[in-house]
Amino acid sequence: MSNKVWFITGAGRGLGLDIAKAALAAGHKVVATGRNPDKVANALGASDDLLVVKLDVTKAADADAAAQATLERFGRIDVLVNNAASFYAGYFEELSPKQMQLQLSTSLDGPMIVTRAFLPVMRKQRSGQIVSISSTAGLMGFEFCTAYSASKFGLDGWMEALQTEVGPFGVQTMIVNPGFFRTELLTEESTSYAEIAIEDYHERRTAQIAFWKSQHGKQGGDPAKLARALITLAEQDELPRRFLAGSDAIQVAEQKIALLQQQIEAYRELSSSLAID
Ligand SMILES: NC(=O)c1ccc[n+]([C@@H]2O[C@H](COP(=O)([O-])OP(=O)(O)OC[C@H]3O[C@@H](n4cnc5c(N)ncnc54)[C@H](OP(=O)(O)O)[C@@H]3O)[C@@H](O)[C@H]2O)c1
Repeated sequence: MSNKVWFITGAGRGLGLDIAKAALAAGHKVVATGRNPDKVANALGASDDLLVVKLDVTKAADADAAAQATLERFGRIDVLVNNAASFYAGYFEELSPKQMQLQLSTSLDGPMIVTRAFLPVMRKQRSGQIVSISSTAGLMGFEFCTAYSASKFGLDGWMEALQTEVGPFGVQTMIVNPGFFRTELLTEESTSYAEIAIEDYHERRTAQIAFWKSQHGKQGGDPAKLARALITLAEQDELPRRFLAGSDAIQVAEQKIALLQQQIEAYRELSSSLAID
């Protein structure tokens, strides 16, 4: 089908906005969603192919209403993009439990809430694609990213397992692990730093905050190109289960493979000696 119905979370700015623009430019119908629908509408302008809906991904009532509005307007759903996320940056001990919960609620619970609202429809249709934007932090644990990695590893694991459950109904999933892309993720609107200060972390924290702030506007990846790549992938009959976005993402994935191999070899004998005699 060339003319699909796309549903995108966090479409008011950043990668989500680029995905919405790319899907419209490719002739698809788009449901562009955000916490502030006016911001989304202003960013995208008007089009017969566009429906703007309010959706805070942490709110199940919003997700149910958005799924309903999608069906009323376009009659079906073809591609759900779980894009919205925030970044709680900091050392685990310095992140408050509340901050950890906020990270998980936006970047892990959020995609689950939205997907839950659409799965009954996709199952009934016996078709649908679920694309979840993860990160290289979903492949490898990085310093200062405990909360973010917890949410992204969770997202990857959940998606990988979900594929086995919904695949038989014709529903396909794709995990996207982007490297650094030039969006608004590292601005104050999206990144919150840890709110607890522990002396032992002072020096490293200062350096980490300086690093993350310095990266804003310097990221190598072009979100408009990634958006177009996602449109191309979704037009294939079979979605790849995972797409590594950016040469930096490929590098991280290769490091992860090498690390796992090294960990296997280091204790192959001990690992293999654990069966009941
Ligand atoms: N940029 C990168 O380098 C990079 C790398 C790896 C992965 N990613 C992932 O790419 C995805 C897109 O991020 P981005 O880089 O485009 O960041 P961004 O420019 O900061 O955009 C984040 C988007 O998420 C939305 N959002 C946040 N919390 C939300 C909530 N509770 N409900 C609904 N929408 C919410 C924001 O909406 P508001 O305007 O309402 O705040 C905004 O539209 C995220 O999953 C991110 O983790 C990005």
